[in-house]
Amino acid sequence: MGTKLRLDKYLSDMNIGTRSEVRSMIRKGRVFINSLPCLKPEEKVSIDKDEVSLDGNIIEYEKYSYFMLNKPAGVVSATEDKQDRTVLDLLETVKRKDLFPVGRLDKDTEGLLLITNDGDMAHRLLSPKREVVKVYYARIDGSVTEEDAAVFLAGVSIGDEKPCLPAKLEILKSDDISEINLSIYEGRYHQVKRMFEAIGKRVIYLKRISMGGLDLDNSLKPGEYRRLTINEVNYLKDITSLI
Ligand code: URA
Repeated sequence: MGTKLRLDKYLSDMNIGTRSEVRSMIRKGRVFINSLPCLKPEEKVSIDKDEVSLDGNIIEYEKYSYFMLNKPAGVVSATEDKQDRTVLDLLETVKRKDLFPVGRLDKDTEGLLLITNDGDMAHRLLSPKREVVKVYYARIDGSVTEEDAAVFLAGVSIGDEKPCLPAKLEILKSDDISEINLSIYEGRYHQVKRMFEAIGKRVIYLKRISMGGLDLDNSLKPGEYRRLTINEVNYLKDITSLI
């Protein structure tokens, strides 16, 4: 049996309006199920078998939604928080309520964060077994050297049971403030900051620029987001189904 949803949820998930807005549309007789008017917001509809239309336009149900956010500093990677703004608060034009961030970035970290309601894909992207690559750009207090790169490549110990997996450090600029790109294949708590701490250096700015080979869209300013394209979604499905 296919998934069934309340008619008002179906429509608000598809961004037609808030729950109360779509209820009003339904009560006004603007919504049809299988060519018959339906005045009941609580009516159950099958997302695969029923045809829902509003003002004569068919509204297809999209089971999974995928967004790319350029997370700004100062918001937390959670669905709800008592004190802070969350990454979901930033998706102001998106009505569906079942979205969550794929993993976490620290409150002060910026950059690529995927947001979806596809639990399977999120799980596969985050599974340590898959070793999905994450690339971070960082500014570091002090000069970063090739010796540091060698330590990271050998697998630096950050005080956990096991040392980190080999990580690739690319030095973009070595100076009083250095600039680097770091590719890591796991996602431990505060990993990048702790890796630099382990070599006596401090991260002063951190931004994720890529995940699983999917790059942050440069046209997104901090706080902006867009839907992933079908090609990007298929690409993520491909890379997560390989193992
Ligand atoms: N590593 C960190 O230290 N912080 C992040 O937000 C992500 C990776």
